[in-house]
Amino acid sequence: MKRRNGERKDRPLLLDASAPKAIACAADAVRAGGIAALPTETVYGLAADALNARACRKIFKVKGRPASDPLIVHIQSMREFGLVAKTNPAALRLAAAFWPGPLTLVLPKNPVIPDIVTAGRPSVAVRMPSHPLLRRLLKLAARPLAIPSANPFGYVSPTTAEHVRHGLGRGIRHILEGGPARIGVESTIVDLRYPEKPRLLRPGAISRAAIARALGRPVPARAIPERFVAKIRKPRRSGPGQLAPGQLARHYSPHIPIILHPRLSLSAAARAPSNEAWLFLRKPPKPAGPSVFWLDETGDSGRAARRLFSTLRRLDAGPWRIIHAELARGAGLAEAINDRLRRAAGLG
Ligand code: TXA
Ligand code: MG
Repeated sequence: MKRRNGERKDRPLLLDASAPKAIACAADAVRAGGIAALPTETVYGLAADALNARACRKIFKVKGRPASDPLIVHIQSMREFGLVAKTNPAALRLAAAFWPGPLTLVLPKNPVIPDIVTAGRPSVAVRMPSHPLLRRLLKLAARPLAIPSANPFGYVSPTTAEHVRHGLGRGIRHILEGGPARIGVESTIVDLRYPEKPRLLRPGAISRAAIARALGRPVPARAIPERFVAKIRKPRRSGPGQLAPGQLARHYSPHIPIILHPRLSLSAAARAPSNEAWLFLRKPPKPAGPSVFWLDETGDSGRAARRLFSTLRRLDAGPWRIIHAELARGAGLAEAINDRLRRAAGLG
């Protein structure tokens, strides 16, 4: 059997995560310093022992992730929270309100966390997940686990085991199959290093407003810079190659360029070249051509978030030259959808 970095290179084992043996198998793998892919309530993740630098190095290698990008440490108890981070009253309040769940807190780290996990920073990102299978794995592994999203670095996060197999299959031995992710976008990240000045680093299912309510103070959000919206309103499409990845602020993902629009219209879609895809938030009121897609029948932001990444992957695999995507309206998951669209458009 060929091996690279301790992981086999043959086809990964897709394990039915509802079978108790599957979780025990993944727990054995991470206890032994290996890695395993698994479902969380947000997106699928790639787990390694967070206290084992060599194990965490495998994550960076398999994902092609730069060493400068720190990992989130997943815990199962408040005891583990105190083990990995220096907590403060604001962090304990948010933990009481939203854990277990899709919220990650950035705090000063404790020495037990190896530098590779935090990319050499003095702070660590911590989350107590709610997915029952992951909680079971954390119990069996009996240690905090570093778990980034299980995608090649820079690509769309996976929301199914099949996405993981497609992106990272050759590098991983174990993939736990647990059905489509319930939330579909990654956790909300709040920086609480300075508890009197909390900052929202990444919007997610736990809304900025809910965090502000729990903390009793506003949590500044990262808005889409006006200059980008202005550019987006009038996409220039004169010459071929004009929207090539290299010309975007940052080519993130998918591979096809994305242009963001505050609103999309069917008439604009009908006038456009047939190799441009149009991604509406809700199903358009009138029948539309084959280049028109939508995230949800009614535009519900929970369902739209759940389908966002799988839809972007599907469009990325299609014949399109450009994806025109409509920005969501409102707060909460709408803010998370816009954040991911902005990153996908290379404006992140
Ligand atoms: O929902 C989630 O959080 C998923 C699931 C698998 O739990 N995980 C996830 O991990 O999204 P990842 O590695 O794809 O994204 C982690 C983000 C990165 O943007 C990273 O820069 C940030 O967390 N991060 C990690 N540690 C940090 C720190 N000490 N300070 C600031 N940002 C940090
Ligand atoms: Mg990620």
